[in-house]
Amino acid sequence: MTGRFEARVALVTGGGRGIGAATAARFAADGARVVISDLDLEPAEAVAAEIRRQGGQALAVACDVTDRTPVESLVERAVKKYGGLDILVTCAGILRDNLIHKMTDSDWDLVVDTHLKGTFLCAQAAQRVMVPARRGRMVFLSSNSALGNRGQVNYSAAKAGIQGMARTLAIELGPFNINVNAVAPGFIETRMTRAVAERTGIDYEDLKRAAAERTPLRRIGRPEDIAGLITFLCSDDASFVTGQTIYATGGPTV
Ligand SMILES: NC(=O)c1ccc[n+]([C@@H]2O[C@H](COP(=O)([O-])OP(=O)(O)OC[C@H]3O[C@@H](n4cnc5c(N)ncnc54)[C@H](O)[C@@H]3O)[C@@H](O)[C@H]2O)c1
Repeated sequence: MTGRFEARVALVTGGGRGIGAATAARFAADGARVVISDLDLEPAEAVAAEIRRQGGQALAVACDVTDRTPVESLVERAVKKYGGLDILVTCAGILRDNLIHKMTDSDWDLVVDTHLKGTFLCAQAAQRVMVPARRGRMVFLSSNSALGNRGQVNYSAAKAGIQGMARTLAIELGPFNINVNAVAPGFIETRMTRAVAERTGIDYEDLKRAAAERTPLRRIGRPEDIAGLITFLCSDDASFVTGQTIYATGGPTV
């Protein structure tokens, strides 16, 4: 395959489903060799198999991003298989929503570890390859919830922290020609938002309709909407953009 990511190697965490899966597919369609990593190997393998079926190159790897040793081996496997690492996108994520008076230590730890520590560990492992190569792109998944969302004190704090991490790493890694940005989606149709409906007992169609009604574009997002933004930030067209958080929410909401 040829395209704007030809000869580039992209690693996507949480790549087995939702935004990560759409991003991996978009990288592959544009010529990248893609490492798709997820806590669950089966969906990651399915995404990789579909990319290969369409003529692309993809490797699926099981990896829990909260754990240093598997994260370091993941990056080593990517480099061993494809000879380098040009792009890191961190999509691994979970929710454990609760109002503060009901939030447990494990709700807090799991969400903060997955999003914040997971992003830190992946970025640290990736920069070890990117700094000597004097080239790299990182995109971290933040969220509109970084601005505050009822029932998400854990998730909101982690997603706001990710924005600070992107700015800080843009400063630290900029001299090595590495761009680091965050994207902050609004309501996107994935397993994550479906799980919100299941947990709260709201019909998913009703939840989606309500989200669309309060969105200026009058629709909710698709994983492909976010994949387009992520891949743009990793492309040569965004070569002077770093340290930014780009909101993709279908418009400002109040
Ligand atoms: N869907 C939305 O509305 C929305 C909005 C804003 C931000 N986001 C963020 O986008 C990212 C992707 O979310 P999505 O909606 O595609 O969710 P999703 O549930 O469809 O996919 C998330 C993937 O992350 C994997 N994962 C979970 N914990 C992991 C771990 N410890 N190690 C490795 N992989 C792990 C899951 O197995 C899953 O495949 C997340 O960071 C999420 O917080 C989503």
